[in-house]
Amino acid sequence: MERFVIKGGRRLEGEVSISGAKNAVVAIIPAVILADGPCVLENIPQISDVAISLRILYEMGADVKQLGKGVYRIDATTITDPIVPYELAKLMRASYYFLGTLLGKFKRARVSMPGGCYLGDRPIDQHLKAFSSLGAACTLENGMIDIYADSLIGSQIYFDKITVGATINAILAAVKATGLTVIENAAKEPHIVDLANFLNSMGADIMGAGTDVIKIRGVRHLKGTEYAVIPDQIEAGTYMVAAAATRGNVLVKNVIPKHLESITARLSKIGVNVEEFDDSVRISVDGPLVKTSVKTMPHPGFPTDMQPQISALLCLAEGTSIVTEEIFNNRFRYVDQLRRMGADISVEGRVAVIEGVGKLMGAPVTAPDLRAGAALVIAGLAASGITEIDDIYHIERGYENIESKLRALGADIVKKSVPGNSVRKVAL
Ligand code: EPU
Repeated sequence: MERFVIKGGRRLEGEVSISGAKNAVVAIIPAVILADGPCVLENIPQISDVAISLRILYEMGADVKQLGKGVYRIDATTITDPIVPYELAKLMRASYYFLGTLLGKFKRARVSMPGGCYLGDRPIDQHLKAFSSLGAACTLENGMIDIYADSLIGSQIYFDKITVGATINAILAAVKATGLTVIENAAKEPHIVDLANFLNSMGADIMGAGTDVIKIRGVRHLKGTEYAVIPDQIEAGTYMVAAAATRGNVLVKNVIPKHLESITARLSKIGVNVEEFDDSVRISVDGPLVKTSVKTMPHPGFPTDMQPQISALLCLAEGTSIVTEEIFNNRFRYVDQLRRMGADISVEGRVAVIEGVGKLMGAPVTAPDLRAGAALVIAGLAASGITEIDDIYHIERGYENIESKLRALGADIVKKSVPGNSVRKVAL
């Protein structure tokens, strides 16, 4: 078992470079299966969700080669059996993208129900609705999802709620279907646009990604391609908040500032200076941090994946802040951990009321999930004394080299192996 040990109270200063976007990569890696030739992917972050995705392809028979840092050549044309090994699929949420991509390629797929962070109910009814609109039949037995279609026919898909995962799966399944598919009430996240750009570079015909209506004209063949993944909006936001929480001065490099607008707007309200450049943002603080309200919304609203981190920052602000979680019904599990560090937060359903306490104190805490873990790192960096964070495997799912990136900014953070009989009790 490994743990982060953070000696808090140091201002973060310097530059940090943001890695490729986790939630784009976990869709793009399975999408390689749709290509009739090898693909070269660049800007792939070294995180455990990527390792699992690549392992799934390898176990299914693909040829996976690392060509350099963050660069992989994947030839998935050797895959013949559209079954994802259970032991790997259960480890992460994004394994459900193999359903869409295998259905699109082979017209059948067998994948176990996905794992992933526990954030409340995470049904997949909208994914299955999309598949059945395209003509597929789905069954669920013994935790395995089986999908089969004689042929996939383009159709009209209207999502009952905005969902990133089902929008991506609908695109993956429709890209080689016969005729036109129109997805309405689609999610608009940057990683959906990135997946569409990747597929279009393979010869797909996808229009409207980034709006709530996506039109896909099915094509027969998709060729291999070379593609560089966009930078991670949430990793960037996390470093922006960490810089603010330590009253530091940090240039966050290799970002697309447009993707950060909702985060920048909230930080500005809190009293943080955010200067935007072409592909970087500078964060600094010279006055007091003040209360604000935050409501998570689908893109372009404030991302739910930044909710725990901004809540950690608001503990340090003057006044009472209100944070409302609109996407998931149980994403405040980190609050107990922040309370151990002196935070004053009460939660009622989907609303957290945060009384600013100005200072946090180091404490032993446990990361309950990925972004909650990031929030605890931020709290530990800002707190006085020592914070020890357990279950950091959650954090390593989504943050490449977080401790070395933070150390380069002046943080006192180390990763320690600790004896114990703890096993990975929660699926990655
Ligand atoms: N939903 C349904 N039915 C469905 C699908 C979703 O009711 O069939 C509901 C969910 O329960 C939730 C809402 O719709 O209330 C939104 O869920 P969405 O499908 O958008 O989320 P997801 O695909 O499960 C992805 C990211 C999450 C991120 C959310 C929202 C991946 C692998 N995961 O999850 O990322 O929070 O979109 O942006 O891309 C993270 O990176 O820490 C993370 C949890």
